Amino acid sequence: MVKIFRWLVVLALCINLKAESYEDTQTLQQEDNLMTNRTILVTGGAGYIGSHVCYYLQQQGWNPVTFDNFSTGHRNSVRFGPLVEGDLLVPDDILQAMVQYQPVAVMHLASFIQVGESVKDPLKYYQNNVTGMVNLLQAMRDQKVNYMIFSSSAAVYGNPVYTPIDENHPCHPINPYGQTKWMIEQILKDCDKAYGLKSVSLRYFNAAGAAPAQGLGEAHEPESHLIPLMIQAAQNNDSTHPLKIFGQDYVTRDGTCLRDYIHILDLADAHLKALDYLQRGGETLSVNLGSGNGTTNLEMVQHIKNLFEVDVPFKYADRREGDPAVLLSTYTKAEEVLGWKPTRTIEQILQDAWQWHQKPKDE
Ligand code: UFG
Repeated sequence: MVKIFRWLVVLALCINLKAESYEDTQTLQQEDNLMTNRTILVTGGAGYIGSHVCYYLQQQGWNPVTFDNFSTGHRNSVRFGPLVEGDLLVPDDILQAMVQYQPVAVMHLASFIQVGESVKDPLKYYQNNVTGMVNLLQAMRDQKVNYMIFSSSAAVYGNPVYTPIDENHPCHPINPYGQTKWMIEQILKDCDKAYGLKSVSLRYFNAAGAAPAQGLGEAHEPESHLIPLMIQAAQNNDSTHPLKIFGQDYVTRDGTCLRDYIHILDLADAHLKALDYLQRGGETLSVNLGSGNGTTNLEMVQHIKNLFEVDVPFKYADRREGDPAVLLSTYTKAEEVLGWKPTRTIEQILQDAWQWHQKPKDE
């Protein structure tokens, strides 16, 4: 009887050990999957920044899956991984994409970005940017995708009270576009507390430049950004259609606004460095992506003249509503925390943008 009891105890111990080692194996396997899973869902992958991010990810050995509804993106920019055509406002679209591809992380770049339009039609922005994000986070939660790199903006700061801006600068967005980015950053913090979803919000300053060899560049419809408009004005060289420079009486070194431009491929690199930071156990945070160097609108005209030996027909116009005089960032935190710093100059940005604008576009 005692013998039988002993055997039963030994048997129970064995079963228990086996169960524990099975669980350990499972956990190890899950961790291994997290490290070897190279699939990243890129929302807005057909857009200007998204397409460069996808190109860069693929080049670095990742599998970027574009999720885009083509409201502003370009079909011919989706060339670096699979495409899911879907809408973040349709919860099932994003859930199905997550189920199908099981990404290790999401890089969320899909959003409306026109400041002026956001003032005229704020609900369009709150619905697309905020509701779309909530749907995306629900799908991530459902499928246990725990890393998010979010495309935030310098617009969260509003009018600078000191410059250069660091991450301790107060955040008082002055338009609905900036509000949506700021609200989403708060949502992400809450999701970390409640669900352990880790995120990095990258506060872009002025993304610019191109990857001309890959046929990628900056084109908005309608075009509203300085560098593409300036290059178009120079390449058309039509003095009856000059570039308008908004404002010449700002408190800057030449009276025109000053901005902090970073090359789009430096920006793409920051996304991967942010993911690496999270995968190494980093905490949720927000970080500026800027160069620490400012260029005024007038200096930009001069750069183009010097680099390409062309005229830029321009005239001064009234100030544009909502434009701060100076938007300049430090990159100290990005360097300390992510190991990122910008590597390309304003000349390189203009060279690449210029080259891309010279090629005929398919779309
Ligand atoms: N500008 C002109 N003429 C134009 C277009 C722009 O003079 O035809 C000026 C603007 O007034 C500004 C500078 O060029 O002084 C840069 O303007 P952009 O429109 O190229 O870029 P913004 O600095 O306005 O926008 C960037 C991002 C936005 C973000 C904003 C605030 O592109 O997404 O910074 O952070 F909201």
